[in-house]
This record gives sequence, C-alpha cells and structure tokens, in this order.
Amino acid sequence: MAVSKTIAVLAGDGVGPEIMPVAVEVLKAVGKHGGHALTFLPAPVGGQAIDDMGWPLPDETLRIARTSDAVLLGAVGGPQWENLAYERRPERALLGLREQLGLFANLRPARLYAELADASTLKREVIEGIDVLVVRELTGGIYFGKPRGVEATPTGHRGVNTEVYTTEEITRIATVAFEAARKRQGRVTSVDKANVLESSELWRRVVTEVHHTYRDVELRHMYVDNCAMQLIRNPRQFDVILTTNLFGDILSDAAAMLTGSIGMLPSASVGATTGMYEPIHGSAPDIAGQDCANPIGMIASGAMLLRYAFGLENEAALVEGAIQHVLATGSRTRDIADSGATVIGTREMGARILERIDGLQVNA
Ligand code: IPM
Ligand code: MG
Repeated sequence: MAVSKTIAVLAGDGVGPEIMPVAVEVLKAVGKHGGHALTFLPAPVGGQAIDDMGWPLPDETLRIARTSDAVLLGAVGGPQWENLAYERRPERALLGLREQLGLFANLRPARLYAELADASTLKREVIEGIDVLVVRELTGGIYFGKPRGVEATPTGHRGVNTEVYTTEEITRIATVAFEAARKRQGRVTSVDKANVLESSELWRRVVTEVHHTYRDVELRHMYVDNCAMQLIRNPRQFDVILTTNLFGDILSDAAAMLTGSIGMLPSASVGATTGMYEPIHGSAPDIAGQDCANPIGMIASGAMLLRYAFGLENEAALVEGAIQHVLATGSRTRDIADSGATVIGTREMGARILERIDGLQVNA
C-alpha cells in the first residue's frame, strides 16, 4: 500500500552534508517507484545550526523533528566547535533530540557483507558470518544522570557524572532486546559491570526478571571488559548485545569495525513516537568535503527508516540488496578498498546504488 509520510532531514556537519543528499536520492527513487508520497523537510542541526542561529538544536528544528513521521540524521560535531560551552556544543543537539523524542532504544546492527571480509583488520575466519545487533539504552545512564558538572575545589576542580538506571528504564530496553532476539537467533548477551557498579547490579537483576517472560530466548550476562575482548576474539558468539548507554557507545564502535569499516553501519533510535535514523559514525571532519566518505551507513539508515518507521519491508530490502550488489560487483570507497582496488567517491557510490535500484524496479 502506498504511504504518505514526512521525513525530517538533518544533515549536520562534517561528512553529513555529503552523505545525506545521496541517501535522500535513494529514498526518493524508492518512494517514487512504490507510489509513495515522501516529503523531505531539511533543517539545521549541530555546528551548522550554531553557525547559522547560535544554538545546536533550534526550536524550529526540534518542532520539525517532532512533527515528522521519521528523522534522518547525518552527523554532528567538528573541531571548530570543540571549545564552546558544553551546552552549546553540536553533540548537545543529538542528545537533545534523543531525550526530547524519547528515543530510549538504539539498534545498531553489525553484519558482515561477505565481500568485505578482507577489508577488516581482523582475520577472515574470525569475522566471517558475524551478525550482531547492539541494543543500546539511549536516554539514561551516565549520559543524562545527575549530578553532573565541573566545580572548583580548593586545590583545583572536581568533575562529576552519574550513572543512574531505574527499574522502568531497564525493563523497557530489555524488552526491546528480547523481542529483537526472537526475530533473530534467539540469544541475548546482557553487558554490564556488575562486579563493580551497583547500577549494573540492578541492571543484571532486572534483565533476569524480564527474561522470565522470554524463556524461549537464551540469556547470558557478561562484564563489559570481557565483552570487548570477546568481540575481537570470537564475535560469532553474539546475536543480540543488550547494554547501557555508555557501554553501547563503546561496544558498537568495536562491533562496527569488525565489519570492515565504521562507515557501513546504520542505526535506528526508537521510542514512543518519531524514530531517528542515522549512521553510527560521526562527522569525520578529517575527510569532510573531499567526496571520499562512505555513504553506505547513511543509505542503510534510510533502509532502516523505511522498514521500522513506515513498515515498507520490500523497499528496505530493495535498498539493502542494491548495497549488497554494488559491493559484490567491486565498488569500493576508500575505507573499504583492498590495496590495489579502484577507489570511488561518495557521489559515485551513491550513483551506483541508485542505478541498481532503478534497474531492478524497471525490470520488476
Ligand atoms: C554515537 C556518538 C554520540 C554518542 C556522540 C556524537 C554524542 O558517538 O551516536 O555513538 O556518544 O552517543
Ligand atoms: Mg559513538
């Protein structure tokens, strides 16, 4: 059935404005062929918004995000804004959106495209077949806990952040992880630091309680340091990794790199209402403006948007299939190229994916 939807398009900083147009083109193509009416609403965010309007998350941007059916976000941040006061930094926009939209669950799938097994820094036999979903709690923990701040002391300063989790917060994210596992291999690894942190002890207890209603799913608990090691030692042991905001931030970068490049991975942040879809990589200011960023994480985020926000499974699969196809036929941006391979840029990679989508739809 054809849908009519609005998408807030927040390109942001660094490579964001390069990869975003490519993803939007892909969504437009898929939408057009499916007869869907997709309306794209661009809005400033992050450093771009600071420069234009003095604030990383302008009210109008938040309003557009809230009232859209989904938010597509590129990346925020860059060295030119690093010395601003904490409340005015680009990253605050991202955290503000997560908080204001109530996006408590962040889904970060790390799957190895077989063609890229040799692009990873790990051995092929270690990474072949990996398919991990990191379910990261996104609106709690040390990212948002109070007290926080830096205060003067007689001898210098004291910096404070607080890791806090409530039963409700743990229950709802654990439920997301168990539900996801049911649709996958049925295994959840809950990651914490219960040997040291009380908040983790509660985490472990509540996850175990939620598990009582998911007996068909296998649950095990793992300390975060061990998990970091196991991800590199034997990543195939993982199906769903359920973890806190901070641990999820760290482990998802590690999981991403197993797949060859952090530039490949999409994510979905979901909660009660509008969801947000973004690649897990950052703004990569060092390579911005050179047409060399990998747009696949951004495009794949568009596919997740189609699937989760609009229920357009076929369209999502079409986009993912096109990504798979261009990789199988040897298209490589710099980050995923073996030595000697021909390297293409951001726009060319996008054009090839688009060409595949158009070709398939004409033949369909
Ligand atoms: C991520 C990023 C963000 C985070 C930053 C940019 C605030 O690293 O989405 O993983 O820490 O959550
Ligand atoms: Mg991160």
